[in-house]
Parts: sequence; C-alpha cells; structure tokens
Amino acid sequence: MMSEKKKEVSDTVEFYRRGEVVKTFEADRYSTPKGRLRWELQNEMMLDLLAGTEDPLLEIAGGTGRFSRQFARAGRELFVFDASWEMICSNRAGLEKEGKVVPFTQGLAQQLPFKSASFGTVFCVDMFSHIADPVPIIREMARVLRPGGQLVVNFTNKSSPMGLGASFISNPLRRVLGRMDVFSIYHWAKNFLRLIDESGLWRLRTTGLFFVDPRLYRFGFDQKLFTFAKKMEKWMSRRDCRFLYEQIWVKAIRQ
Ligand SMILES: C[S@@+](CC[C@H](N)C(=O)[O-])C[C@H]1O[C@@H](n2cnc3c(N)ncnc32)[C@H](O)[C@@H]1O
Repeated sequence: MMSEKKKEVSDTVEFYRRGEVVKTFEADRYSTPKGRLRWELQNEMMLDLLAGTEDPLLEIAGGTGRFSRQFARAGRELFVFDASWEMICSNRAGLEKEGKVVPFTQGLAQQLPFKSASFGTVFCVDMFSHIADPVPIIREMARVLRPGGQLVVNFTNKSSPMGLGASFISNPLRRVLGRMDVFSIYHWAKNFLRLIDESGLWRLRTTGLFFVDPRLYRFGFDQKLFTFAKKMEKWMSRRDCRFLYEQIWVKAIRQ
C-alpha cells in the first residue's frame, strides 16, 4: 500500500496534471487585476533576493512559467524543472511564443536528476505549500548547488493568521466536507529554517510577505490591502516579527 507521504506527493502531482488546473492556473491566480498584486509582491521579492546573481538559474517547480518567462526575457540562462509534464508543456508554449528555448526536465524535487554542485543559483516558489516533508527536497537543493551558490525558496508559515486559519479551521473542514483540491500545507518557521541551516546552507536573508493568499484579494479591497501589506512588511522587518508573515522567503548560500 502507498504510504501517506507518497500519496500526498502523487495527489499533488495529479492535481497539477489536470487540464483545467493547468489552463486556468495563471489566469486565476495572477493575471486578474487582483491576482496581479500577488504577482507583484512576489516578483518584487524575487528580484530583490536574486539581485546580483548572474549564473544559470535552476527553477524548481516552474509551473506554467510566470518566473521562467521573466528570467528568459531578461536573457538569463535557465533550466526549468517540474513534476507535472502538463505544467511543463504550458510553460514551454509560453516561452516559445516569445521565441525563447529553455531546457525542461520532469521529475520529483525529492530526487533531483542533476549532478551534485552543478548550479550556481536555484530557486523555487510556491511549491512547499504542497509538501508535507520538505527534508529530502532541501537536501537535494543543497546537493545540486555548488559551494557559494545561492538558493531562494519560500514557504507558507503556520503561525501566520492565514496559516492558523488553514491548519486548524479550513483544512480540517474541507477534509470533513470531502477533498476538493490539494491542501495548502503550512510549515512552522522554526522547523523549516532549522532544516535549511542543517543542510549545509547559510541563511543570508530571511524575510517575508504578509498577505499573499489570492483568496484575500477576492474581497475587492485589493489596493488597500496591498498598501496595508507593504506597510506591515516594513513594520515587521524592523521588529523581526516573522511569525506573522504568511510566506517566509529565504536566501541561503551553499557553504
Ligand atoms: C503553485 S505551483 C507554483 C508554480 C510556480 N513556481 C509559480 O510560482 O508560478 C506548484 C508547482 O509545483 C509543482 N510540484 C508540486 N510538487 C512537486 C514535486 N514534488 N516536485 C517537483 N514539482 C512539484 C507542481 O507541478 C506545480 O507546477
């Protein structure tokens, strides 16, 4: 019988293989006026954390390619990895429309099919919210980075208001009502950060975003929420209140 962990991984991959999910993924989450705010918040963070890097990029869980297109447009050499072949095809089609050709590899991040110490920069956005056990993945990310190489990852934070709501109210409720899609998995920051620290990575920056869940932007007060979120982020980074961040973002260096 399949273990609970393996089932979770395969449910997630199956979810991201579904035609309707792939087709609506970006439009639903990032292209609407409200979703664009989420994209802007995350993109600003990504550009800030990757500033100054020049080596080829390995994007893990590239999805339909919002970041892939951006880096390819900027002329960065890029390798894209994802578990879902369907997400890869959509990503590739988007890049081809812009005349960009990028190598893609399909597989599970739990076992990256790359040689050790082969990349200078690895990044991964919005994947750990589907991963119950991040241990093998962080180890793999550290393994494929060369010494001095950089890793940028984010994860959803269990102690944030959204994390507490999802972990203790909405996920159990959805479990009772029947599984509708993949659950958002939130991680305790202390555990996730310790895992990074114990994987031969040295954290250069640990920062975060206060409100990024697209469900919040459905209420129609998006611009106000955006401004509020930015103010909260500034306030929190001054006081190191990272327990409130909805998403924690880390930039770490392979020792
Ligand atoms: C929420 S999407 C994020 C896509 C992209 N990073 C972005 O921010 O637009 C999650 C992606 O993670 C991929 N994924 C989920 N579990 C994975 C695993 N174990 N290994 C590799 N990719 C995985 C899915 O196929 C999907 O494309």
